[in-house]
Amino acid sequence: MTLSARNVSWTAGGAEILRDVSLDVRTGEFLGIIGPNGSGKTSLMALLAGIRKPKSGEVLLDGVPITALGRREVSRRLALVEQQAETGERITARQAVELGRTPYLGPLSPWSPEDDAIVEAALRNVDMTHLSGRLWHTLSGGERQRLHIGRALAQQPKILLLDEPTNHLDIGHQIGLLDLVRRQDLTVAAALHDLNHAAMFCDRLAVMQGGRLVALGAPREVLTTERIRDVFGVEAEIDHESDGGCFIRYRAAGQSRPASRRGNGARLETVAGGVS
Ligand SMILES: Nc1ncnc2c1ncn2[C@@H]1O[C@H](COP(=O)(O)OP(=O)(O)OP(=O)(O)O)[C@@H](O)[C@H]1O
Ligand SMILES: [Mg+2]
Repeated sequence: MTLSARNVSWTAGGAEILRDVSLDVRTGEFLGIIGPNGSGKTSLMALLAGIRKPKSGEVLLDGVPITALGRREVSRRLALVEQQAETGERITARQAVELGRTPYLGPLSPWSPEDDAIVEAALRNVDMTHLSGRLWHTLSGGERQRLHIGRALAQQPKILLLDEPTNHLDIGHQIGLLDLVRRQDLTVAAALHDLNHAAMFCDRLAVMQGGRLVALGAPREVLTTERIRDVFGVEAEIDHESDGGCFIRYRAAGQSRPASRRGNGARLETVAGGVS
């Protein structure tokens, strides 16, 4: 199962939002898409998911232009969890996950015990079994986010596209979710803001800036002091670890040393471990 963008550009409101972006999401990899607000991450994911059509260039799913495939066919192979995902209010947590089975249901393939088992596994995976009977509108932001991921897992795609999947999650559930996603036998592309999490979990990173893809490679190659300064306007030090991982310390404007080294007892650094 392959997903590729070939020289895609996209225009909205008279402005060019994405310019000539080409990348392959490799089978089985966890690709992180990073970049500042407004750099085009969500727009790129919408093109990769086939819910928007490029102005020029094309997105290929298994070598076929995704816009030429039916929605149902795409949904069996690829699931998207949007940044601003919403769901009707009058459904339960379990029903929200059951929606993931929609691409498989039809007059000749009604709901079956297998669908129940898939939904229950998805609820377990996102740690939501205990809340499965709760109404959607009574759930917290983080619980809803976990259900969106659960719905995508119940869809049993080969490719999972996640737009800021750790939004709203506490640190335990952020790490748990990224680890869970990485452990699935899936190809994953995820827009992430936390560069240490990106370094920790992703095989490769794509860096977006002003609608262009400006770097693509292993986290330790892509995350350099110069690039973080150029793309995010932030001073940072990168520690390269012997196992191939790296972690980033940020420096606030006017600070001569990174905050975590000032010895004030408030260590607020995130340690990124091995890059697989
Ligand atoms: N439908 C639209 N009409 C006009 N402008 C749009 C539209 N969709 C996106 N844009 C603009 O395109 C740019 C890229 O938006 P996009 O949502 O892809 O950024 P992003 O990298 O996902 O940002 P964030 O980190 O804030 O989620 C932004 O400047 C945004 O305002
Ligand atoms: Mg976005």
